[in-house]
Amino acid sequence: MSTHIAAEPGQIAPRVLLPGDPLRARWIAENFLDDAACYSEVRGMLGFTGTYRGERVSVQGTGMGQPSASIYVNELISEYDVQQLVRVGSCGALTERLAVRDVVLAQAAATDSSMNSLRFGGYHYPATAHFGLLRAAVEAAEEAGAPHLVGTVFSSDSFYHSRPELTQKVVEYGVVAVEMEAAEIYTLAAQHGRQALAVCTVSDHIVTGEETSAQEREQTFADMVTIALDAALA
Ligand code: ADE
Repeated sequence: MSTHIAAEPGQIAPRVLLPGDPLRARWIAENFLDDAACYSEVRGMLGFTGTYRGERVSVQGTGMGQPSASIYVNELISEYDVQQLVRVGSCGALTERLAVRDVVLAQAAATDSSMNSLRFGGYHYPATAHFGLLRAAVEAAEEAGAPHLVGTVFSSDSFYHSRPELTQKVVEYGVVAVEMEAAEIYTLAAQHGRQALAVCTVSDHIVTGEETSAQEREQTFADMVTIALDAALA
């Protein structure tokens, strides 16, 4: 096992879906995977491996925020040789081009996190999705008829912003939604030559104030998981 994941070598598939919420990991395993088995319960951060359309796929909770996601992605890559990492989660819409329940396919991720400023010193790194995964996700979203937008997200270290005018600043530069993990996942994938993508549903609208009900979140989460799985298997 690795420090935070209790799987034996070989128990985790080369393709992994990454919800922040560990209970969502269990929900995905129970509703989308065949023969799913739990491989880790360390700190309640559940991980499962099963099959989807006959191919092995794992789903691993990451917790919220880049420092937590970084722990799991580092170990999935270095200890379990995971090749494809697809975040499935929620985001807040920052533009009226999006409505609640839409799917955001994160082409790139800006960030206020210190993780990349520490990693790169004075340089600013463009954290970007893997093009093949992104293209496959666009095709899957089109096929599913799911309203979606390809765009740049803002991976913030804060859910509650003390300086919202700074978020407004990135909106002026085309950022469409805020979430909390993609930039670190993209950066680690790039560092290790792996493939990453974040697929997020809009759970709350920061411009209009609209929110989704728990039932709506479940349905839109299901659409997003289908897109993520189809992209990972393409
Ligand atoms: N995930 C969903 N909504 C969010 C928001 N408003 N900020 C950050 N992450 C989110």
